[in-house]
Amino acid sequence: MSEQAKYLVNCWYVAALASEVDAGGLFQRRILGTSVLIYRLQSGQPVALQDRCPHRFAPLSRGIRHGDEVTCQYHGLRFDGGGRCVHSPHGDGSIPRAAQVRSFPLVERDGFLWIWPGNPALADPALIMDGAVLSRNPPASVAHTYMHNAVNYELLADNIMDLTHIDHLHGPLINTRGKLSPLIPKVSEESDGIRIRWDWQADPAMLLLATHLAEPESPARQFFEVKWHAPANMRLNVGAMQAGEDYHSDGVVLYDFHIMTPETDTTTHYFFASTRNYRMDDGGYNAAKMQGMIEAFTTEDKPLIEAQQQEMQSTDLWALQPVLLSSDAGAVRVRRRLRALIEAEQQVCAA
Ligand code: FES
Ligand SMILES: [Fe+2]
Repeated sequence: MSEQAKYLVNCWYVAALASEVDAGGLFQRRILGTSVLIYRLQSGQPVALQDRCPHRFAPLSRGIRHGDEVTCQYHGLRFDGGGRCVHSPHGDGSIPRAAQVRSFPLVERDGFLWIWPGNPALADPALIMDGAVLSRNPPASVAHTYMHNAVNYELLADNIMDLTHIDHLHGPLINTRGKLSPLIPKVSEESDGIRIRWDWQADPAMLLLATHLAEPESPARQFFEVKWHAPANMRLNVGAMQAGEDYHSDGVVLYDFHIMTPETDTTTHYFFASTRNYRMDDGGYNAAKMQGMIEAFTTEDKPLIEAQQQEMQSTDLWALQPVLLSSDAGAVRVRRRLRALIEAEQQVCAA
């Protein structure tokens, strides 16, 4: 990738929703500053290539599909799904050794296409974050969406790692009526990421969940728990339970995935997926709930965070000497961990 020094590269990023890449098309998206072509072989298996012909650098996504191969629209070199040039219409038809397009490891899992921008030899699918609940749950309880944002990806990760913003920025459907900000969240450093958790007594529970509890008007125990994985892949569990209930079996729980992939320094691909443990066969509720979440994000979070980015005019938060609050405990650790991982990766590269 062209901007490697800024980003962690030996890790899995989501490149696209599986549903964005259809059977016959050529799908293009810029990831970590590099334009990538994604398409499906006739077997359905998706592949990812740098979207750049090695001749005069025309985007291959403007090319023409021939079965599993893509022909460059400009002068007709043809490449297979691994990026190898398999045909040249020029001269005696011999294929120059340098006529090779970079290919990236790509794995389809849990409704996402995961790309590995770094060393392909290190691309172990076992390192992909656990999103099995999205595949395991009934389809009527699962939804995925994609949103583009004019924001650096770390600012978007801060938004999920510091959920106290919901009481100040969001409306009654998902706020906690002021319960969150006074709490000191529990933060734990784990080998594969960072976890942050808030627990509180709600009276009643947040509106989104209260209506699904046995006694919607009565007090409930609530929690938010976020597990972050590098670089900006987060799972958020939101739960509410009443007297004696265990949230895994009796309470109501949302399992949300907030996954951010840098497009450039100041623009981000935001992938969101959600499932739950209640009304799991209700597709109508599923669609309405997803619409509500998208609306909350696009009308409340997105305008504010994009304005924040405009005001900062920088992606270096620390250079601006931000005030720190108790609610920053998770976001600060995430930023430090990510920086340490990027630095460690660069030292290995330099060695
Ligand atoms: S730019 Fe692709 S063949 Fe010339
Ligand atoms: Fe929000």
